Amino acid sequence: MKATELQTPVYLVDEKRIEENLRILHGVEERTGCHILLAQKAFSMFRIYPLISKYISGATASGLFEARLAQEEMQGENHVFCPAYTTAEMQEICGICDHISFNSMRQLELHRPIWEKAGVSVGIRINPEFSTQDGHEIYDPCAPGSRLGVLKKDLPPHLPKGVQGIHFHTLCEQDAEPLADTVASVEENFGNYLNEAKWVNLGGGHHITKPGYNIELLEKTIRHLRDTYDVEVYLEPGEAIALNAGYLYTKVMDIVENTLPILILDASAACHMPDVLEMPYRPPLFNGGEPGEKAVTCRLASRTCLAGDVIGDYSFDRMPEIGDTLIFEDMAIYSMVKNNTFNGMPLPDIALMHVDGNCEVVRQFGYDDFKCRLS
Ligand SMILES: Cc1ncc(COP(=O)(O)O)c(C=O)c1O
Repeated sequence: MKATELQTPVYLVDEKRIEENLRILHGVEERTGCHILLAQKAFSMFRIYPLISKYISGATASGLFEARLAQEEMQGENHVFCPAYTTAEMQEICGICDHISFNSMRQLELHRPIWEKAGVSVGIRINPEFSTQDGHEIYDPCAPGSRLGVLKKDLPPHLPKGVQGIHFHTLCEQDAEPLADTVASVEENFGNYLNEAKWVNLGGGHHITKPGYNIELLEKTIRHLRDTYDVEVYLEPGEAIALNAGYLYTKVMDIVENTLPILILDASAACHMPDVLEMPYRPPLFNGGEPGEKAVTCRLASRTCLAGDVIGDYSFDRMPEIGDTLIFEDMAIYSMVKNNTFNGMPLPDIALMHVDGNCEVVRQFGYDDFKCRLS
């Protein structure tokens, strides 16, 4: 089926673009000997996990459910990090994960009898207290008051018995320079632990597949860690795997006049692309310009009741009409993993555009998907 024949709203994932990203990531693995893991929190379209596992080492999870998904659908390594695990979760996780990172000494010790018995490789997440981003404080795990990672002052002088790994995640959509700076700071402040560790996990937030990313510096940084400390190096990007590799197709259902024409869409920022409101950011729109750049400027909004459920103002060469399809770009990441049925809004279908351009509807949702989450 052609993309234009898909029912809207629909997330359409572009297999060719995914594979292009995966080739870049595979190249980094091959040249440096590091291990790259898909952070499923960003993208969990398990239909293409077999494709992903052809190119990279495995997946990482934010808890038991993502870990189970990787175990069922992905080949390769299965890592997990969560600020707190229940005993029942830890028991199940030890049966399916090969690497577990803990967020506190208390959690590490609470679950010690379970992970020691299972023989899983265990790491501790540190907080390097080295912020490299400004603006988005909610995406900065090094911000004052952060709950993510153990502070240097709270670590014992040596890695606790049985702990093999150091984990830190501090970046968000960043290039390799902030990573190199962070690594230098970690070496200075946590160098003794690096000397004792078998592996170090550099978290996510590396925009490796973004055009212009400094891959050379990334590889130099990875090689430096491997050569200096004799550690396995892990990276767990989410965005980089599916960056610019998906679209949200939506239809114009009505046009309301206020201070400007407002297009009522069958897609919603609040339900289908919550990061637009949370980050906040303005998603790219195919053939859409900045306000005032093209002939007509319209506000793109949803059919929910939320006054602020507005995607943004965009300009067009001609006035859009009811029934027109609009295409939001870069909609594979942090979209379908975060969506919801607020207002009883239907969830977008999930479709895959194969390399030959043919589109396949992989999953459709309906009323039952709304009802089954309520009681
Ligand atoms: C611990 C951890 N690892 C990996 C990621 C993936 O980050 P990104 O999708 O920005 O690469 C995140 C994102 O929040 C994270 O918290």
